[in-house]
Amino acid sequence: MIELSARPDMRAHLGTPFVLELTSAGIAAAILEHADTDELLEFTNRCSAFFELVKGRAPSRDDTAHMIDERPNTVPRECKLLIGLRRNQKLLGVLDLLHGYPDSNTWFLGLLVLDPNVRREGIGSTVYAAIRRWATGYGARRIQLIVQEQNPSAFAFWRAMGFSESEKVIQQLVTGSNQVSLMSDDFK
Ligand SMILES: CC(C)(COP(=O)(O)OP(=O)(O)OC[C@H]1O[C@@H](n2cnc3c(N)ncnc32)[C@H](O)[C@@H]1OP(=O)(O)O)[C@@H](O)C(=O)NCCC(=O)NCCS
Repeated sequence: MIELSARPDMRAHLGTPFVLELTSAGIAAAILEHADTDELLEFTNRCSAFFELVKGRAPSRDDTAHMIDERPNTVPRECKLLIGLRRNQKLLGVLDLLHGYPDSNTWFLGLLVLDPNVRREGIGSTVYAAIRRWATGYGARRIQLIVQEQNPSAFAFWRAMGFSESEKVIQQLVTGSNQVSLMSDDFK
């Protein structure tokens, strides 16, 4: 069991520790800060095919730095978490979570991306199970996310995680627009 390492102000907000049951895989989770930008850029470069697919380009250094703070303007800083997953000190996954967005009962998963070399090993499922337990412990009623139409393997993964599609919307980006599906995992 590995407890999420976080800044003291973030930890005060988090209350319930984020515990990832990933010890067998030797993975540690930590909040990413601006000091981690270069490491994050190196990771996003390794995952450039995914970012090109959904954003139309691989992230620049500025785009990567922006990922650390980027959130809707109604979301307070302590409710936005960019979390890095490391094994042997190497970043192998990143997830972006908004607590209480778009409403107080919902957590929004803005991103879950793993290094292409560690996909289909069950890490995504294990991480999602940990996020779900954490959200449940917080009293959340659902987790929501969007999936771009051009990313069929993400649809397959999220359906396997128990998500279902509710509506289709257009996602506006600086680089263009995407047709996306809103997906939700409603807790029973
Ligand atoms: C999506 C992602 C996080 C899944 O993590 P993962 O560790 O590879 O997934 P898992 O090994 O836990 O897969 C769990 C199940 O999801 C489904 N699944 C996962 N990837 C799939 C794929 N490429 N095609 C079809 N089904 C897939 C399968 O049912 C799989 O179970 P199985 O391996 O026993 O068949 C990872 O593949 C990734 O980083 N992809 C690129 C980024 C991305 O698209 N993120 C989602 C953005 S919305």
